[in-house]
Amino acid sequence: MQFTVGERVLAIEQGDITRQTTDAIVNAANSSLMGGGGVDGAIHRGGGASILEECKAIVSRRGRLPPGEAVATGGGNLSAPHVIHTVGPVWHGGRSGEPEVLASAYRESLLVAETLHLKSVAFPSISTGAYRYPVEQASSLAVRTVMNFLRAEADSVTRVVFVLFDTATFEAYGRAVASVRSSPVD
Ligand code: APR
Repeated sequence: MQFTVGERVLAIEQGDITRQTTDAIVNAANSSLMGGGGVDGAIHRGGGASILEECKAIVSRRGRLPPGEAVATGGGNLSAPHVIHTVGPVWHGGRSGEPEVLASAYRESLLVAETLHLKSVAFPSISTGAYRYPVEQASSLAVRTVMNFLRAEADSVTRVVFVLFDTATFEAYGRAVASVRSSPVD
């Protein structure tokens, strides 16, 4: 499913983000950048040791990656030439700034893509796995944040695709896209 935002495209797909051929895929990492499970594990497994080596160099240079920020490495063995690592919020009930940090994770990842003059970016559903962010809330925030960016801030980025692993998450993002399309974007 996809729809246009001006001249740009926002799409959702069900699948494995490590198979994407976009200019960048976004990793739902943790602050150590040393890998983990979920999509983090899949990207490090698929990309190989070079990604971890670059992550180690980043952490030694600038320290742990705070939630809501983003950095880029190469894609290693992946089809995507770049991986943008971001850290989403751990869900603690929604009153500890989780929405702001989740929106920042999406927006900062897109700003990193812009600095690299990339055209296409694939996102997983950040924070809705191990970090337990409720997917209904996360999906509508993610879609709104990306749509607002495409509408108002994007320059090189012309296509963003959400790649959702399981059916329930894919359907939640489909509902989020449908509701954003039926009401003006805030
Ligand atoms: N492609 C796309 N999406 C995937 C893939 C994949 N290959 N593997 C998992 N996912 C989905 C999950 O099903 C979930 O919907 O990514 C979403 C995010 O889940 P997590 O990967 O658990 O990420 P998150 O909730 O942000 O937790 C991050 O988990 O893996 C660790 O090191 C990571 O500590 C960090 C934490």
